[in-house]
Amino acid sequence: MCMSKLNSFHNIILLSYNFLFFIFLPSTLQLMGSNNITPLSTLQPAPTTRENEYEEIDWDNLGFKVTQTDYMFIAKSTLDGNFEQGQLKPFGNIQLNPSAGILNYGQGLIEGTKAYKREDGRIFLFRPHDSSIRMQIGAERMCMLCPSVDQFVDAIKQTVLANKRWIPPAGKGTLYIRPLLMGSGAVLGVAPAPEYTFLVYACPVGNYFKDATGALSLYIEEEVHRAACGGAGGVKSITNYAPVMKAMKNAKGKGFTDVLYLDSVNNKYIEEASCSNIFLIKGKVISTPKANGTILEGVTKKSVIDIAHDLGYQVEERSIEVEELIRADEVFCTGTAVGVALVGSVTYKARRIEYKISEGIITQQLNSRLVEIQRGIVEDKRNWIVEVK
Ligand code: COI
Repeated sequence: MCMSKLNSFHNIILLSYNFLFFIFLPSTLQLMGSNNITPLSTLQPAPTTRENEYEEIDWDNLGFKVTQTDYMFIAKSTLDGNFEQGQLKPFGNIQLNPSAGILNYGQGLIEGTKAYKREDGRIFLFRPHDSSIRMQIGAERMCMLCPSVDQFVDAIKQTVLANKRWIPPAGKGTLYIRPLLMGSGAVLGVAPAPEYTFLVYACPVGNYFKDATGALSLYIEEEVHRAACGGAGGVKSITNYAPVMKAMKNAKGKGFTDVLYLDSVNNKYIEEASCSNIFLIKGKVISTPKANGTILEGVTKKSVIDIAHDLGYQVEERSIEVEELIRADEVFCTGTAVGVALVGSVTYKARRIEYKISEGIITQQLNSRLVEIQRGIVEDKRNWIVEVK
């Protein structure tokens, strides 16, 4: 059923110099042969005033962009196939061998999770264990070594606490945490790298899409496919993102917010948007494409499905023909970065279909319940919330 249109060689940033190559994360960190990782307690204070509870940035206009925070966590794999304990380092550049697996063959995985500050100042994570398990599944698919669930969650907690002053005040945004697993060892022929590096950094973020007030306008793409069966679309491989940038750029150039991709075989079943899952609502039935290897198993998607059941809605995970969008009452996207984002319109074959975006819609109920669980207003009966202290 599948025609692979993905070419992993196109999916990575491939820059080779004769000797050393720098990836641009601000400041400095030497990965190669580096055993000089410093415990947080002995690190110099960050350049701005440490006494401030909050960093002085415009918390009302965060958007979704890189902000240099104070520390990142880093751990390398060991010869026995495990990972060293790892340590915090000042947030900064890393150095890689030009033959590193991630640079040459795209052997890399990302994750995304968020830390929230409540009104009382307590800090919480949302389902970090799920991100960790997803990274393990991805690592298995990409032939990579992966830190254990405990190592992963502990690294996230350490990164959050070390960057506490960058967590937005309650209601203003979140600290987006980006775990990154990469083949850092050198390889020339196509093969798994001999060494892996696990890195976690964090940035304060607000809304992913610039026009936060408006609902998304999605362009349904018929030429470019995000994933093919048997490929890596179902895991958070770094190779899933560069190939969709052209379609995104074209759609944005025409005034759309994002792209909705179709399956690569029949070009008629909806799959997902560039970095979020898709749902549609008709009457009291909420439907989302069934993940079958080409669709990412979103943590927010799983949460919304559980919440929808709790609220008494019927949820269907199944193949959804693009034509069904014409008859839908509401459409929304979900993702860690995106949250629950209402879709105002989809455009397919030059036809624009518009959806309800008024008060009282089901999407709003689902989003409110999710936020209430995260803020501790509604009981967290599934242990999704993890306090960081
Ligand atoms: C997330 O939702 O956390 C993601 O990883 C999306 C990201 C590619 C922007």
